[in-house]
Amino acid sequence: MPKTLITGISGQDGSYLARILVERGHEVYGAMRRGSTAKTDRLQEVNVLDKIQMCTMEITEYANVQTVLSDIRPDYIYNLAAQSFVADSFHFPHYTSDVNYMGVINLLEAVRLLKLDCRIYQASTSEMYGDVLEKPQSETTPFNPMSPYAVSKLAAHSLVKNYREAYGLFATSGILFNHESELRGLEFVTRKITSWLAKVKLFNHEPLPLGNLSSVRDWGYAPEYTEMMVKMLDHERPDDFVISTNTEYTVREFLEMAAREIGFDPVFEGEGLKEKCYDKKDGKLIAYVNPKYYRASDVVYLRGDNSKALNELGWQPKVLTPEIARKMAAYDLQLLNRK
Ligand code: NAP
Ligand code: GDD
Repeated sequence: MPKTLITGISGQDGSYLARILVERGHEVYGAMRRGSTAKTDRLQEVNVLDKIQMCTMEITEYANVQTVLSDIRPDYIYNLAAQSFVADSFHFPHYTSDVNYMGVINLLEAVRLLKLDCRIYQASTSEMYGDVLEKPQSETTPFNPMSPYAVSKLAAHSLVKNYREAYGLFATSGILFNHESELRGLEFVTRKITSWLAKVKLFNHEPLPLGNLSSVRDWGYAPEYTEMMVKMLDHERPDDFVISTNTEYTVREFLEMAAREIGFDPVFEGEGLKEKCYDKKDGKLIAYVNPKYYRASDVVYLRGDNSKALNELGWQPKVLTPEIARKMAAYDLQLLNRK
């Protein structure tokens, strides 16, 4: 039975990945950082909490990382732990770098020094393309990061490549474009939209404040993307792969699709800071632009060329953005109705 360690087990991707690996017969160890309570809601939601072994690991502490790895001696490590919210990285650049970059040094050094024979997956990101130098972006597109988050992830990405080449580690980086789901954190724009609009609909909650509505993303479905993480580590050799849908939608379009699913008939009025979204049925304001949600510098266009994953891993995304918006909106309505 292969032993697999997942860092960031309590996050969106950690939960879906744990479910896939449990189904495949892996002995799964889930690493969590210490907290006043264990964050296990998502693991319960996907029904794997009692099928995995939890351990405490602080990725920023080398000695702790080494101890955990030497106790488990995993065959596979999926490093998903990160300060993953781009907007917060402008407020916490040191902390973001400690977790997202120094944490990766700790993992790679521990694997090297313990001489572990294991395969490592690093969660790289389309944010590394930043102010994009090519459309769409592929594995050969130069990086041009625009946030402390993206800089930290690019440093980690480069280090993984370096350890692969210098020490022959089986270390793969998945350059994943945005992926969303019913378990997405409430601070990311898709889930912020679906969870908030459900409250506007059911509880007459105040309208939804948003930042840049014209930002373009290539949104895929997290359960599918975590399957691709497993495929990447099962591949014959370590490499970098873009995982994306090669489609594009603006935040405004996502808002419109989610609003329809929730039962509004959205119309937009005004431009820039004055842009507002109303329900045509009764003229009610449902969303508006608030500059508080603008970023110091924002990535305004991401669209991934997934041909390498298609050719080498047989990747074909099935769930695309309109269906994701419908699924997430329906889930949030149902969740509130249950309450
Ligand atoms: P997420 O929901 O924010 O989960 C992040 C996980 O990292 C959580 O389990 C979190 O623990 C953990 N973590 C944070 N700081 C930590 C620390 N100091 N020590 C140990 N663990 C820590 O993120 P996600 O969407 O699942 O993404 C998974 C990974 O993929 C991340 O590395 C992210 O940067 C990357 N990524 C995500 C996307 C996307 O669109 N979702 C795209 C590309 C790359 P707590 O629960 O305790 O906070
Ligand atoms: N969060 C948020 N909140 N974003 C908003 C808002 C708002 O109110 N209004 C507009 N946006 C815009 C942001 O400015 C950004 O351009 C876009 O919506 C997406 O923002 P997020 O959903 O926060 O995601 P992200 O693209 O910054 O980062 C996510 O995807 C990356 C992959 O490209 C995260 O999951 C990262 O961890 C991941 O690496």
